Amino acid sequence: MTPFAQLPSADGVWTDLRLAPEALGEGSTAVDDAAIVVQHGHIVWVGERRALPAAHAQGPQHAGHGALVTPGLIDCHTHLVYGGQRANEFAMRLAGASYEEVARAGGGIVSSVRATRAASEDELFALAAPRLQALLNEGVCAIEIKSGYGLSLEHERAQLRVARRLGEHFGVTVRTTFLGAHALPPEYAGRSQAYIDTVCHEMMPALAAEGLIDAVDVFCETIGFSLAETEQVFRAAQRLSLPVKLHAEQLSDMGGSALAARYGALSCDHIEHLSDAGIAAMKQAGTVAVLLPGAYYFLRDTHLPPIAALRAAGVPMAVSTDHNPGTSPTLSLLLMLNMACTLFRLTVPEAVAGVTRHAARALGLQHSHGQIAVDQPANFVLWPLGEVAELAYWLGQHPQPTVVRQGRITSH
Ligand code: NIG
Ligand code: FE
Repeated sequence: MTPFAQLPSADGVWTDLRLAPEALGEGSTAVDDAAIVVQHGHIVWVGERRALPAAHAQGPQHAGHGALVTPGLIDCHTHLVYGGQRANEFAMRLAGASYEEVARAGGGIVSSVRATRAASEDELFALAAPRLQALLNEGVCAIEIKSGYGLSLEHERAQLRVARRLGEHFGVTVRTTFLGAHALPPEYAGRSQAYIDTVCHEMMPALAAEGLIDAVDVFCETIGFSLAETEQVFRAAQRLSLPVKLHAEQLSDMGGSALAARYGALSCDHIEHLSDAGIAAMKQAGTVAVLLPGAYYFLRDTHLPPIAALRAAGVPMAVSTDHNPGTSPTLSLLLMLNMACTLFRLTVPEAVAGVTRHAARALGLQHSHGQIAVDQPANFVLWPLGEVAELAYWLGQHPQPTVVRQGRITSH
């Protein structure tokens, strides 16, 4: 594979483009004959081609051939770095066991912890690289990667270091999230409070000092951590000035979303069992609702997230793969667009905003990602598609777009 730094530069004038609605930001309409000018890897001009100033029309010319253009996609919730896989648990669940029963029987997250701890950083990188490549091939230009399968300082560090390395190697924006409070590691069985103390007082400060944490997350659930434990982790994050987010209300209503909103959370994710009070708190705090239809589908969940109420309240909704070996082993963000529409009844514009503008906000990247705007790094996708609804329409099509990522042309 060509090293990222040797890929062709996207600098120059891109013409014969059709900008998708919302590509230029909230409420913008489609532009049929558009141009984008890139200099030094950044967008310096975008708009209708006939308005292109002569001063910007010089330089290398890139023909868009009428492609439909969106901002680079953003996958704002993944657990991409781990060892092993859990197809056996999929089979157990098909034979009648529930996700909670598999977890209580020593499977679930803890089985991925065993496989992740057994792998070296190089092995974890080699396993995660093709997963990331699959997402990038579908136009992903920024991705969140969580820890949470190490559950010790040494192994959480390995996961986060691999996440950073993936970002550098592939030239993609990576936001790392420390999810030390994902499950109770076996060596702390029956000592949940002691583990949370370790997460808050040892692991988080050390990893933050190493520059490995962009945000902090907790799995707040009956099979995860309690509301009180979640708050302790949030307080520790606050002491280190790290933003928080939460796996909230996936299997039951724990009130985690309202708590997260009180801590100014970037996002609350899953939220199938979110209450009206949780929605109101998220609206007030500007917290993004991250919808994960892959996990909903794969767990054969039937309890829909409260989409209509979120919409009515004006809470921004993002859509993500939640890629992980237990509940969402998908590597297609476009498939998640389809599922967000078919299963959750999002409209096409909502789904597209969910993997661009709102996903950027869920990562605190709203000033640099999620729309095509002057002064932002050049991240945009040229789709060989007739209309924007096709992004959510084809099932497993892999449309092979040309992707401009961090100012380089990454595929043809
Ligand atoms: O987002 N809910 C907790 N965390 C993951 C699942 C992790 C696993 O089962 O390995 C999720 O669904
Ligand atoms: Fe998750």
